[in-house]
Amino acid sequence: MNHDLLTLQPDRPPVITSEIELIHFYHDTNVKAAVQQMIAGTYVLVEELYSNGLEILAELKRTLLVYYTDTKFQGQRDFRSAFREASHRLLVEVKGHKLLVKKAPVIGWLEVLYPEVSDFYVSFPEVQGMNSAWQWYKKGIEVKTLGITLHPFYGTYFPTRFDHLTLFDKWLKKYVGSKEKAIEIGVGSGILSFQLIQNGFKNIFATDTNKNAIIGVAQECKRLGYEGNITLNHGDLFENCDVKADVIVFNPPWLLAKHTLEEGLDKAIYYEKELFPRFFEQALKHLAPEGKLVLLFSNLAQVIDEKSAHPIIEELQNHNRFRKELHLRRDVSASSKKTKRTDARENEKVELWVLAPKEKDALS
Ligand SMILES: C[S@@+](CC[C@H](N)C(=O)[O-])C[C@H]1O[C@@H](n2cnc3c(N)ncnc32)[C@H](O)[C@@H]1O
Repeated sequence: MNHDLLTLQPDRPPVITSEIELIHFYHDTNVKAAVQQMIAGTYVLVEELYSNGLEILAELKRTLLVYYTDTKFQGQRDFRSAFREASHRLLVEVKGHKLLVKKAPVIGWLEVLYPEVSDFYVSFPEVQGMNSAWQWYKKGIEVKTLGITLHPFYGTYFPTRFDHLTLFDKWLKKYVGSKEKAIEIGVGSGILSFQLIQNGFKNIFATDTNKNAIIGVAQECKRLGYEGNITLNHGDLFENCDVKADVIVFNPPWLLAKHTLEEGLDKAIYYEKELFPRFFEQALKHLAPEGKLVLLFSNLAQVIDEKSAHPIIEELQNHNRFRKELHLRRDVSASSKKTKRTDARENEKVELWVLAPKEKDALS
């Protein structure tokens, strides 16, 4: 592991450690009045049951929907933003790294993410997010076809459908080139790097802009005994990377952002316009002459809006850097076999692209 990573601090929800003015909510407190206080800017503390918090949030939603009736995109956005703001004024108290309210879930992140402080207030929606992330982390995500169970760290992207992993596995099984060095951009919860290792790659430089991803994959490598195979790095694209790789793999975000991106999970889903041109330009410099660039992608953007650009096709059409060696597509299966797909994602396909540097550009 890169030495600087030992000092990497995870991103975590903000907490309040000082005494603040707040209203106490008990089972006989008027819910509607409490909600009005939250909308007006006052903190409300859930005192008794965890479920009281759920009840208050449901009432907040009902109240705001009376004001935000516009069902169009902007109206919905305004509603979500008003809900987000007011709901974060609903607090729960943590003492000794545990939620004080009764019948509350046990959430290990309250200890893992806040080693230096055991007593604080935290917003109820953040607790819900931590609870869900803790369940996934404890239970793990089993990728049966690969025989791997992932335990994603808080705030890290993890796959819930595995079709693109199957495509990558299929390609890896046929790959006959050198397996000395690989680079993974955007390692997330580590799955593609683990596939590379399982298929005999010796040294992997794996990087991500999300600190939590790097912290999580470091833990996972320890658990899986992969520490000797991987160098982890926190940074943007090929920052700090002086490797020339036999294979570079990137499963990038699949949707073009129409908003300013936030750090963390937002960057796993959405990309800024410049991401792909920057990626291809830098990738060329980090690929061995015989190297392969493998991108996992999806037609999701085109399914949502058929006029959407496809950044890999654009690269091939507009630049003279790479040639296409392979393009595989696969239907996305429903997340559960029991659910028939009737949504817009029915036509969704995952894609695997293999590009090679055009000879004149290959750097020796
Ligand atoms: C769709 S997720 C893929 C995660 C994982 N490789 C997988 O296949 O499950 C994309 C990842 O790329 C990371 N990412 C986005 N922009 C990046 C950048 N400029 N440099 C490095 N990583 C980036 C995100 O934080 C996220 O972890």
